[in-house]
Amino acid sequence: MKFLVLALCIAAASCDLVPLVDDQAILIRSSWDEVKHNEVDILYAIFKANPDIQARFPQFAGKDLDSIKTTGQFAVHAGRIVGVFSEISALQPDESGISAAKTLINALGASHRGRGISKAQFNEFRASLITYLSQNVSWGDNVAQAWEKGFNNVYFILFNALDGTPI
Ligand code: HEM
Ligand SMILES: *[C@@H]1O[C@H](CO)[C@@H](O)[C@H](O)[C@H]1NC(C)=O
Repeated sequence: MKFLVLALCIAAASCDLVPLVDDQAILIRSSWDEVKHNEVDILYAIFKANPDIQARFPQFAGKDLDSIKTTGQFAVHAGRIVGVFSEISALQPDESGISAAKTLINALGASHRGRGISKAQFNEFRASLITYLSQNVSWGDNVAQAWEKGFNNVYFILFNALDGTPI
């Protein structure tokens, strides 16, 4: 039976997308809204915890993080990167919203595939963002579970694109 489910999953290619239930989309959006304007602080926290991620950015590699944090270039990059979560969380969890999210995430996967960014680095990014959120928004088991499921869905699409086999 387990095998059958697995086989169906491979055939459907999207069975790892687990629909959000009840108020999970609202929980993600409302918690994100608490920090979505802290783009610079968020990218700073991610770089601080993961120097290997900072090192992949040609314009920031090898530079002192506290010095670059206050630059316009850092703000522009932070706005672009962190802004993706604002775009996704603003979408409705319905057919058209999911389709729009797929388009956006597939483009993200393709551009980062071109840069050779690994899944391990994306997982580090995810862990640091969750740490930031857990300490800076009103957090609880329900909010944590909503983010876990949302991230699983986003990363399922992302990692397929990163492998060069977008769904
Ligand atoms: C979910 C996590 C991430 C999001 C939402 C994100 C988002 C973005 C966006 C929107 C851009 C600009 C447009 C594009 O090229 O697609 C970008 C560029 C870039 N990203 Fe990411 N990214 C993520 C994770 C990472 C990770 C983990 C790394 C490295 C380890 C990385 C490295 C880069 C680099 C090097 C650029 C090019 C910067 C430049 O313009 O020179 N990204 N990212
Ligand atoms: C919470 O936010 C503050 C201000 O943006 C930041 O200094 C701190 O590092 C954040 N917490 C975590 C765990 O990232």
